Amino acid sequence: MDRQAHWNAAYTRKSETQVSWFQDVPARSLAMIKAARPAGSVIDVGGGASRLVDALLQAGDRDIAVLDISEAALGCARTRLGAHAAAVRWICADITQWKPDRQWDIWHDRAVFHFLTEEAAQDAYIDALTAATRPGSTAIMATFAPSGPERCSGLPVRRYSPADLARRLGQAFALYDEAVEKHVTPWGAAQDFAYAALRRM
Ligand SMILES: C[S@@+](CC[C@H](N)C(=O)[O-])C[C@H]1O[C@@H](n2cnc3c(N)ncnc32)[C@H](O)[C@@H]1O
Repeated sequence: MDRQAHWNAAYTRKSETQVSWFQDVPARSLAMIKAARPAGSVIDVGGGASRLVDALLQAGDRDIAVLDISEAALGCARTRLGAHAAAVRWICADITQWKPDRQWDIWHDRAVFHFLTEEAAQDAYIDALTAATRPGSTAIMATFAPSGPERCSGLPVRRYSPADLARRLGQAFALYDEAVEKHVTPWGAAQDFAYAALRRM
């Protein structure tokens, strides 16, 4: 099954509140986004059906994009938001093939980069990240931590500490904030996530 079919099936089999990565309130991401300077435009990469976009709209943000490989996931978020969905730019794309047409102040990714287990795919992601940001932009990334699970949604993942992530992104990104947090799945399993906030140099 190709990646897009995999993710469309994942969001069709279960409701948005039953998937392992569901968060009612993405508090850590929100806190890191609100602490980022300059504040401004945000792109949630692999945002899926996340409620981060709801919280950003609620907080008054008006320049928001959500990118995901799964049209089913984006459709779920759009349906939930109703008329508010029109205020958001929705991009259905594979991050390893996407060519950004602008730059954002804040790039957010929770649990997408860790699925890229091949170096070439990671390099393509970093090229997209670099093209979609400018010096001074912030990248907020969360992956499974070294103590976290080895698989997610039936796929293998690569686990990182915040320092590992910073090393993988290279010298163009400087780590300035980090956290390791236990996420609890809808069925009560704990998963360690590593969060890294990095400034584009
Ligand atoms: C574990 S989920 C996390 C979703 C969301 N970030 C959250 O925290 O709720 C991973 C998401 O990444 C998306 N995804 C996986 N591979 C992708 C790729 N190559 N390009 C874009 N999105 C991708 C999936 O469709 C899914 O929505």
